[in-house]
Amino acid sequence: MRVLVTGGAGFIGSNLVYALVASGHEAGIVDDLSTGSVANVHPAAWFRRLDVLDPALEGAVAEFRPDAVVHLAAQVDVQRSIADPERDRAVNVGGTEAVARAAARAGARRMLSASSAAVYGEPETLPLTESAAKRPSNPYGASKLAAETALVEALEGTDVDPVSMRFANVYGPRQDWRGEGGVVAIFAARLAAGDSPAIYGDGLQTRDFIYVGDVVAFIMSGLLSEGPLTGQLPDGPAYNVSSGIQTSVETLASLLTSASGGTVEVAHMPARAGDIEHSALDPAKAAHVLGWRAHQPLDAGLAMTWRWFLAANGRD
Ligand SMILES: NC(=O)c1ccc[n+]([C@@H]2O[C@H](COP(=O)([O-])OP(=O)(O)OC[C@H]3O[C@@H](n4cnc5c(N)ncnc54)[C@H](O)[C@@H]3O)[C@@H](O)[C@H]2O)c1
Repeated sequence: MRVLVTGGAGFIGSNLVYALVASGHEAGIVDDLSTGSVANVHPAAWFRRLDVLDPALEGAVAEFRPDAVVHLAAQVDVQRSIADPERDRAVNVGGTEAVARAAARAGARRMLSASSAAVYGEPETLPLTESAAKRPSNPYGASKLAAETALVEALEGTDVDPVSMRFANVYGPRQDWRGEGGVVAIFAARLAAGDSPAIYGDGLQTRDFIYVGDVVAFIMSGLLSEGPLTGQLPDGPAYNVSSGIQTSVETLASLLTSASGGTVEVAHMPARAGDIEHSALDPAKAAHVLGWRAHQPLDAGLAMTWRWFLAANGRD
């Protein structure tokens, strides 16, 4: 299968491209390298350095002729979305529309597009199923929600089956610890520097952590599935991609600290206004439709992430 991955030089995208190539598929990458890195680009992958909003996108996608497109390129920084909501919307909504139109014109049959747990905002009950209320609490969540609608509208009447993947908190090798990053990557960077993980608030806030290898496995089963993925209940083309397990940030810090061979000692900072208290996404729909489940236990996933982190920073 020929699979085009936008954002394929980023964290999740590069893990996906490596898995695609290892399974004998042809992988193509479109990435502007704004947060991704050329070092992440698989040497066997077709690669165009391009903004998904660039008018040259359509020609590039047509040149690669994908059977399927996985759209991961996005403005991913919540703080930046608050500072510049127009740019966030342009990239996340306009970019999804542009990729969807290019995918349809190039004859792709399926498009899986990255959405986020951020579309739900503060939950009423946990775990969140796909049909739960969507009240995003920041512009990033709002643009991801609008992108889900834009995806379906752009592909209406075409032969492309649209899927929106609502990722929980993804962690693992190649996650960037600079900038917004993910909490696991940021904690790992602090531990490697000999500092304690710094937690906002009391650390009892919970998140649903999912290992990047499990996310890649979801995408692979979505790509290879023969039946249509859209129209399945609940919430049509949207799928939670999650472990369904709530883990407190304090427990996460403690597990990562033990993986690093250190002793548990965390620093606390004032809670951040607008941060969600608890989160967990119900993965039952993905299990029912695709037979997919997250397998990686958190302690083992963190140990693999720590080993990668040391190697990437030349400390192993
Ligand atoms: N990592 C998580 O925990 C998480 C959670 C929920 C949703 N997501 C979503 O998953 C997707 C991948 O996230 P990630 O964690 O791998 O982030 P990442 O920053 O590592 O990857 C994003 C990639 O997209 C590229 N990119 C950004 N804007 C672009 C543009 N306009 N044109 C072309 N390329 C562009 C970047 O250079 C980067 O390589 C994003 O859509 C993100 O919103 C991630």
